[in-house]
Amino acid sequence: MCGIIGFAGHEEAAPILLDGLARMEYRGYDSAGIAVRSDKWGLQAKKSRGRLETLYGLTHGGADLDGPLGIGHTRWATHGEPSDINAHPHISEGGNVALVHNGIIENYLEIKEWLLQKGVHFVSETDTEVAVQLLEYYYRECDSMLEAVARLIHRIEGSYAFGIICSDYPNALIAARKDAPLILGYGKGCNFIASDVTAIIKYTRDVTYMSDGEIAVVTAESIDVFDTDLTSVTKARSRISWDVSAAEKGGYPHFMFKEIMEQPEAIQNTVSPRIRDGRVVLDKFSMTPEEVRSISRIFIVACGSAYHVGMVCKYTWERLLRRQVEVSLGSEFRYRDPLVDENSLVVIISQSGETLDTMAALREAKRLGGKTLAVVNVVGSSIAREADHVLYTWAGPEIAVATTKAYSTQLALLDLIGLYFADLLGTVSAEEYREILEAVQTLPEKMRVCLEDVQKVQYLASRYFNHDSIFFIGRNLDYAMGLEGSLKLKEISYIHSEAYASGELKHGTISLIEPGTLVVALGTYEALFDKAMSNVVEVKARGAEVLALTTEKFRDRMEKTADCTIVVPDTHPIVQPSLGVVPLQLFAYYVALQRGCDIDKPRNLAKSVTVE
Ligand code: F6R
Repeated sequence: MCGIIGFAGHEEAAPILLDGLARMEYRGYDSAGIAVRSDKWGLQAKKSRGRLETLYGLTHGGADLDGPLGIGHTRWATHGEPSDINAHPHISEGGNVALVHNGIIENYLEIKEWLLQKGVHFVSETDTEVAVQLLEYYYRECDSMLEAVARLIHRIEGSYAFGIICSDYPNALIAARKDAPLILGYGKGCNFIASDVTAIIKYTRDVTYMSDGEIAVVTAESIDVFDTDLTSVTKARSRISWDVSAAEKGGYPHFMFKEIMEQPEAIQNTVSPRIRDGRVVLDKFSMTPEEVRSISRIFIVACGSAYHVGMVCKYTWERLLRRQVEVSLGSEFRYRDPLVDENSLVVIISQSGETLDTMAALREAKRLGGKTLAVVNVVGSSIAREADHVLYTWAGPEIAVATTKAYSTQLALLDLIGLYFADLLGTVSAEEYREILEAVQTLPEKMRVCLEDVQKVQYLASRYFNHDSIFFIGRNLDYAMGLEGSLKLKEISYIHSEAYASGELKHGTISLIEPGTLVVALGTYEALFDKAMSNVVEVKARGAEVLALTTEKFRDRMEKTADCTIVVPDTHPIVQPSLGVVPLQLFAYYVALQRGCDIDKPRNLAKSVTVE
């Protein structure tokens, strides 16, 4: 996630801004920049791609930029690759407004078009530049920066935390937020804005959390907060008691837990800019409808959890697209002489965009003449650059080694891509299209419901954490989801765990079930629920302890048979794994916590596997 800091005081802002940015480095970023205002020079900005050291060097530790008022930003690219030009702050064409932004402006293309017609020139590919140009446009009309900001936030759709300075305002910076974090910090003779308390904890622990739709005017002496209609709002102050390491994790004990909790927001960021007027809209997607219609066969290639996303996708896309979908591990695909031809679509899924086996598979697919589509989280990563087409998950940086929010945003984005393709291929009815789209749209709020139930999962983890071996069983989409549940558990808790398609139990695995064996039985896939129940009965008959996962619809039936049951909300079957996986992630997390494991950095594992 991007990091924002802003300072209004009586000393030089630039070194303080750089220091704040350095404290937010842990969040991940690909470029950074600062802008400062002084009476002598007006607005001055410096920004660059790469590490903060480059920015330190460019500004001689901030000494080159004068002025006691400024904003700074670390960028994690979403719209436009990491580059000097796309880095923030963005400056308006007239040169008198500088702005930093965290979030995604969903209707930026429409506003950009409108501004282009008014003669505004753009230099970057970002959605953020649209905000600063629109802001200057409004400022010219109304001559009040506060009013211009209010107009801006009425016009834009999406999520944002803004920090803004204007050359005409020597003492004040303006902040605004919606669906992206922003806090106001009260210092001694100075005040701050920041997206993260770590940035300012050295200077103050007295903060106010801005709410959605609020605008703040921050000077060295005062902070005034207004609602969207510019009516003054009285805000309570909070005292931060966390230490720096807890503050980095937003008060959560681990990055993994923080990232599990961020999933509703990450999914919202990934899907909502791509749904307009009841349709999937893939802006800037370079694959033509003719190319889509020419696809006769689909390969999905990935590693680890991303491969498990592919396993879910095999079931959902075959149903939606009526095309054969084959899922392959990157490490296998590259050496197996796959039957890829020019009518094959090869979908490459990767959070980091740098996994070596996945990258090699992409190259192999291209060599064989297939069309390649990368679904990647890191903008400008190697896989994103080399694939013919790319669509990004906008999950923000993932720091914990075990993936959670990247996995769930990949699932949600692939649901949208599946719908988009199915529509072009004419393989989905209007009714099912609408139902699935609605299910994707309501995913964030239903996921919040799953995340409210952490105490129950925590209790179950405390009951089962000392098992040596745990089996996950399920059919169809439940089997695919079980693969991920099992991987999450084993990689962070070091408990041996396997996932099986329930129908396979009788072909060998059932011999491993003995009194007390823990079986996690997944029964969220409506069409095969009765069969899932039969498997629960089978393993219970051999003495297994059954922890079941099902949906509200089947709660009563499952509760009567299983030893304990976790329930998630009902949704369309295609989208159901996105909800079901949440308790499985939490279960893995709490089991690992009980066992005292190093959750964010499990032994022998790396976040990005760039070796074979
Ligand atoms: C497991 C996990 C890994 C990754 C795999 C692929 O929690 O994170 O299995 O999914 O290493 O990584 P990416 O998606 O970066 O290609």
